[in-house]
Amino acid sequence: MKVALSRTSSEDRKKLADYFANQSAATETGRVSEKDARGRVLAERGDRTRGIAGCAACHDAAGVNEAYPRLAGQPVPYLENQLGLFRSGNRGGGAYAGVMTRAAAGLSDDDIHALAAYYGAFPQD
Ligand code: HEC
Repeated sequence: MKVALSRTSSEDRKKLADYFANQSAATETGRVSEKDARGRVLAERGDRTRGIAGCAACHDAAGVNEAYPRLAGQPVPYLENQLGLFRSGNRGGGAYAGVMTRAAAGLSDDDIHALAAYYGAFPQD
């Protein structure tokens, strides 16, 4: 990389930097709205800096494990409501509800909106 860059002019380097800066901006604002993108990133990867586990670690898309309900395609207001209840520790549930209470503990209101929008956007089936 050092060799490759040493042969480019500073003007070229600026163009390259602009090019890559625009690339990431395009994927953030393209077909997927920023809110959906935020929900997707949280759902798939979580946020280590805030101690939030990715939801997909437990809630797989196929809903194969009955202990972990399928989220995709559930109504947005329902998802928001459930997440708020888990976060406040008032949801109740089955034998594994405590697992989800911990998973929701660090979520902000914005996280909850973004996650509900993300999962709610999948087709119901
Ligand atoms: C460590 C595993 C785990 C992680 C990570 C996890 N969940 Fe859960 N989740 C559960 C379990 C177990 C339940 C079932 C709780 C019950 O009702 O007993 C559940 C239930 C839910 C429900 C209620 C669904 C329904 O049909 O009522 C929602 C909504 C939910 N999770 C959303 C999320 C979101 C969003 C994330 C990511 C921020 C997440 N979960 C991360 C284990 C997990």
